[in-house]
Amino acid sequence: MSDTVIKLCDFGAAYEKKTVLEGVSTSIRRGRITAIMGPSGCGKSTLLKAMNRMLELQGGASIRGSIHLDGQDIQSIPVDELRRRVGMVFQTPTPFPLSIYKNMTYAPLYYGVHGKQKLDEIVRENLEITGLWDEVKDELDKSALKLSGGQQQRLCIARALTAEPEILLLDEPCSALDVKSTQVIEQLLLQLKERYTIVIVTHNLFQARRIADDCIFMLGGELWEQNTTEELFSNPQRPETKDYLHGAYA
Ligand SMILES: Nc1ncnc2c1ncn2[C@@H]1O[C@H](COP(=O)(O)OP(=O)(O)OP(=O)(O)O)[C@@H](O)[C@H]1O
Ligand SMILES: [Mg+2]
Repeated sequence: MSDTVIKLCDFGAAYEKKTVLEGVSTSIRRGRITAIMGPSGCGKSTLLKAMNRMLELQGGASIRGSIHLDGQDIQSIPVDELRRRVGMVFQTPTPFPLSIYKNMTYAPLYYGVHGKQKLDEIVRENLEITGLWDEVKDELDKSALKLSGGQQQRLCIARALTAEPEILLLDEPCSALDVKSTQVIEQLLLQLKERYTIVIVTHNLFQARRIADDCIFMLGGELWEQNTTEELFSNPQRPETKDYLHGAYA
């Protein structure tokens, strides 16, 4: 199996006539955490949303260039299948206004899983992975909206995992959370990378340094620099990257 899971070739995106991404070529490596960093408005969320086609299909952007998933152009993958294989978690937790149980069985039911026993297993397994099982096992019928912010975000990650994705995209998943919940999520992502490839947008340089194996620095809609986290932080090649790492764009 190739080391590259997602490959972008000269990818660009525009909203109406405004170009927001240009000439982005990169490879995302399997079984690793890749952090996308850069100042506000540089195109981080746009890049992430391009990877499961949310950008053009829901966001109304026009795109050029190509994105391949495991060697296959994502334009040729049915959207249902693509969304199953590439899960997404957003900045603000977005549980459905349903019970915890129904949040967790939504995707499996949609993708055709039958039988209470099988569904119960999926619910338990993924709540255990995200450390929520012990906290919620006696109240699975409770509305997911009644959980704390950190619990809601872990539920959203657990819910994304129920679709058995290969890749998990996370857009600033901790920015609405306190330090403790952030630590829990970071530990969780470090565990998950053994089974999933993770791409995370973060504003938090400390977070990128703590959890990412690879880093992408975006600036003005371009991929400015990419390297292993170690190299990018210790030996940035471009002056703008260095400035960003020293807080110049904060
Ligand atoms: N739906 C939209 N319509 C028009 N322009 C948009 C839309 N969404 C984003 N943009 C523009 O595209 C550019 C990139 O936005 P994007 O959300 O990708 O930035 P970002 O790096 O994620 O920023 P932030 O760190 O603030 O989340 C910005 O100039 C933004 O104003
Ligand atoms: Mg963003």
